[in-house]
Amino acid sequence: MRLLILSLFIIANVSNNSKASLESFLPSNDNIFLTDTTKSSDKSCNRPCKFNVKPRRCHYDFEISPAFGEDERPALTVNGQTPGPSIHVCLHDIIVVKVKNKIPSQDITMHWHGIEQKGTPYMDGVPMITQCPISYGSVYEYAFAASAPGTFFYHSDSVLHQSDGVYGALIVEQPQPLEPHAALYDYDRSDEHTLLIGARFPELLTAKLEDTNQIRPDGILINGHEVSTKIFVIPGYGYRLRLVNAIALECPLVIHVYRHVMTVIATDGKSVQPATATAVKLYPGERMDVVIRADQQTGGYWIDVTGEGDCEGLKAQAMLLYSGFNYTSMLTEEPNADTDSGLETRDTISSQHLQSHRDVPSVSSVKSIYLGIDKTYPKFKDSDIDFRYISDAVPKKPFIPAVLSSLDNVLQINGKNFLYPNAPYLLKPRDVRPDTVCLVGEEKSNKQPQCLMVLNAKLNEVVELVLANEGLRHNDSYTFHMHGYGLQVVTTWRSPDNKPINRAEVQRLERDGKITRNLKNPPVKDTFMVPNKGLTVVRFTPTVGGSWLLECRSCSFSLPVAIIISVPLSIPKLVLDSLPSCGNYRPADVLLN
Ligand SMILES: *[C@@H]1O[C@H](CO)[C@@H](O)[C@H](O)[C@H]1NC(C)=O
Ligand SMILES: *[C@@H]1O[C@H](CO)[C@@H](O)[C@H](O)[C@H]1NC(C)=O
Repeated sequence: MRLLILSLFIIANVSNNSKASLESFLPSNDNIFLTDTTKSSDKSCNRPCKFNVKPRRCHYDFEISPAFGEDERPALTVNGQTPGPSIHVCLHDIIVVKVKNKIPSQDITMHWHGIEQKGTPYMDGVPMITQCPISYGSVYEYAFAASAPGTFFYHSDSVLHQSDGVYGALIVEQPQPLEPHAALYDYDRSDEHTLLIGARFPELLTAKLEDTNQIRPDGILINGHEVSTKIFVIPGYGYRLRLVNAIALECPLVIHVYRHVMTVIATDGKSVQPATATAVKLYPGERMDVVIRADQQTGGYWIDVTGEGDCEGLKAQAMLLYSGFNYTSMLTEEPNADTDSGLETRDTISSQHLQSHRDVPSVSSVKSIYLGIDKTYPKFKDSDIDFRYISDAVPKKPFIPAVLSSLDNVLQINGKNFLYPNAPYLLKPRDVRPDTVCLVGEEKSNKQPQCLMVLNAKLNEVVELVLANEGLRHNDSYTFHMHGYGLQVVTTWRSPDNKPINRAEVQRLERDGKITRNLKNPPVKDTFMVPNKGLTVVRFTPTVGGSWLLECRSCSFSLPVAIIISVPLSIPKLVLDSLPSCGNYRPADVLLN
């Protein structure tokens, strides 16, 4: 099964513009349908990004297969390695990735985390929403434009596959003069200075049929290693480092460099007003670009990555090495001795409190939607659901009600878990069984514990989502990821007396003006945390059609917690006909394997 890319939506007026005005290189808001004019098929798109050169078409072949890692542990790999190969391109390049699935009896899809997929919503990589899953032995060819610069990463959409090793860096650069904070650093060597942080598990999660909720990681990895990643710098210069939390569990990471401060200049690919601290905190799926200046005594300094939440007690380290320094001694010393940290008080930046580089336009009216997140006791019966495609978390596995009945309680949004549909919702909405769908806000009319939760958004109508982590039955914070859009994070609020909250309570607080919003320059993010017994309020204006998942990537291995935000779109028949159709799911085959 091979997808022919017949045509692509790309942003117009980029390659042929001979005027060197900076504006001509900024993305236009209009997507037009035109054939790809990028001539080059040069495989090496990792190059300095210049003005006035044609964008390239960048080809990659990814084969996803089980293999043994360096430490003899089994892992799922991309071309035999984990993390997979990095993708480095320039703004407006076209990225073409052929993904071949060589994992016996499992389906996969690949998600390009943070890429907006303007005009190519069917390349977003969500199984049974934007595409048919890629079955064993088959290939799906992804193709999309690098329409915005920034630090991104790719990973299998399945939380389990990502945890088993299917992830890699994806960096989109632009000519340095276009970078708003270019004056703050001298070097942006994204191929050497990206720290892609993952977790290591004692066993392969996808190999287990039973509940994987109890399995915790036993190590944190920086670019695949616990201690040996090295960042080389020349004394006196400033460096842009790109930090990625590529873990799919609720594992916030605190990153600290001995004796150096960090200046955050971007989060989730979007520029922010520079903010300086001695440590930064990244939630799962978040990215931060920071500047470090090699202004200390020539030497070697540990970069500490400390896990929290599900990664509490775990730590990994990389080395910041000034050129000419012999680092052998660092390896023999006790690496955890922070005797000369030199920075006694640690202030830690998390990105939701940053301010965006540019003010956002003010809006006159918004449509506000309440999403109550809490644990509830599920009442599942064997006959409840026809589970053929179960969830992004459990790729092509049979539904085992016993697993669910053994759970004390499961996390839900507005009292429901998300149900993946029987046909890809974006491509074949009419084939989706209507009794499995429920509209956000009207969930009660569907009696099942799981339904395909859909929020229908109107083009250009500002939507405000109030995500309330009510916290009646649990004490956890959770991280959500929005596909296709950056959202303005206008409020992150915690109950001051640490009491559970509910809808009526939130309405009262809003009326009394107790919950303030940053409507001037909120950070624009695709990944954000919702604090326990607290709220995160996000806003966005639907401008790009598609079926976009807003999902908790860290809530549960068992039952998905997500909604679909559906923005009107008509996909050309030419494109629809060129996309593969779904195979048959026969869980019995899996059981016999
Ligand atoms: C670095 O230091 C180690 C031990 O201190 C020494 O054995 C080694 O020769 C040194 N390497 C260089 C290149 O100087
Ligand atoms: C949450 O924290 C409170 C206060 O520390 C504690 O009493 C309660 O048992 C915790 N709840 C759960 C589900 O752990």
